[in-house]
Amino acid sequence: MSTKIAVLCSGGGTNLQALIDAVEAGTIDGEIVRVIANASKAFALERARRHGIPALFISKKQAGCDAAFNDQILEELQKAGAQLVVLAGYLPLVGAQIVRAYEHRIINIHPALIPAFCGPGMYGHHVHEAVLRYGAKVSGATTHFVDEQVDHGGIILQKSVPVLEGDTPDTLAARVLTVEHEILPESVRLFCAGKLGVDGRRVHVL
Ligand code: GRF
Repeated sequence: MSTKIAVLCSGGGTNLQALIDAVEAGTIDGEIVRVIANASKAFALERARRHGIPALFISKKQAGCDAAFNDQILEELQKAGAQLVVLAGYLPLVGAQIVRAYEHRIINIHPALIPAFCGPGMYGHHVHEAVLRYGAKVSGATTHFVDEQVDHGGIILQKSVPVLEGDTPDTLAARVLTVEHEILPESVRLFCAGKLGVDGRRVHVL
């Protein structure tokens, strides 16, 4: 029985596209049953629609507050029968009610090597600007389970890239994005195959 996957997005959805491609190629034993975006113009919604995946915009503004916004998302996840939630370029903090309902069943992708360059405010270009400002020689991407703190749950996979002379936030972001598109589908593949074991903070690939 393949795993029902819901994907939360905020932007262009290239990570979502990598997941869609891996599912359609049969690499991931799963089915993307819902895509939810917190931005009405997120191209991720269009990507989902082009692949016949139910996609919807949920507005934090219309919901009125974080709790109601996350309640709406949780209701949609449960209606879709989601067994795994993937945060693919999703910016808001996931509400505690969702984290509790999906303990060790929410996977996030972060464009740096956690625990470096992560935490509140560290998203998108802010991450790559901080890496360059610090003078780091390597960066990369991390997938991890989501808990109630930002970028804090057990690390699943990481892959590094070099920081090159002359890099700009754009050139570094593009290099990191290529490894994001590798490790996120691989992390989801492992989860769907039942090959991720959790032991406290440590995640073992079985
Ligand atoms: C990317 O910078 C990625 O690092 C982060 O969100 C941004 C947009 O990703 N996770 P996507 O193209 O919307 O998947």
